[in-house]
Amino acid sequence: MAHLRDLRASDRATLERVVRGTNAFREDEVEVALELIDAGARPGSGYLFTVAVNERDEPQGYACWGLTPLSDGAYDLYWIVVDAAAQGQGLGRVLLEHVVRDVRARAGRLVIIETSGKPEYASQRAFYERCGCTLLARYPDFYRLGDDKLVYMVRL
Ligand SMILES: CC(C)(COP(=O)(O)OP(=O)(O)OC[C@H]1O[C@@H](n2cnc3c(N)ncnc32)[C@H](O)[C@@H]1OP(=O)(O)O)[C@@H](O)C(=O)NCCC(=O)NCCS
Repeated sequence: MAHLRDLRASDRATLERVVRGTNAFREDEVEVALELIDAGARPGSGYLFTVAVNERDEPQGYACWGLTPLSDGAYDLYWIVVDAAAQGQGLGRVLLEHVVRDVRARAGRLVIIETSGKPEYASQRAFYERCGCTLLARYPDFYRLGDDKLVYMVRL
């Protein structure tokens, strides 16, 4: 049974393995994930994290979110990842529900989630839709030719 705790700097290596092990991200995306983890481990960065750990306190996944700059109460979900071996057991939902609860507690109004329209991202889209996120917009060819950006929202 996993539980959630704050990010620690010592989680970095395990979280890197978790991110890489999903095979969902290109190398440049992994680099950005690590930059956020490094920033999030420093107090006051503005990047909010929660880490799902097992009974041995080993990270199984995490979410990263933050106030969208210049907005009044819109939050971006920057990253949500569950270890490949632990997917499909409800952890992703636990992480996303934590993010939504946290944003609500900060008097946030919206959680905005961006993902890819590629066929390989069908499971991510299914996850967001099963978790009650509303598809707001599609930007054709945004990331690459043939790779649309999809924007989901949770309105609080
Ligand atoms: C997307 C991700 C975070 C989901 O985490 P997860 O722990 O596997 O998801 P859960 O088990 O909590 O699933 C929650 C719901 O989504 C549904 N779901 C998840 N994957 C699904 C799939 N491939 N097809 C259909 N439904 C799916 C589940 O059935 C569940 O619905 P239910 O509760 O109504 O039964 C995880 O698969 C992951 O880390 N993927 C790789 C990284 C990634 O691409 N992250 C997002 C981009 S930053």
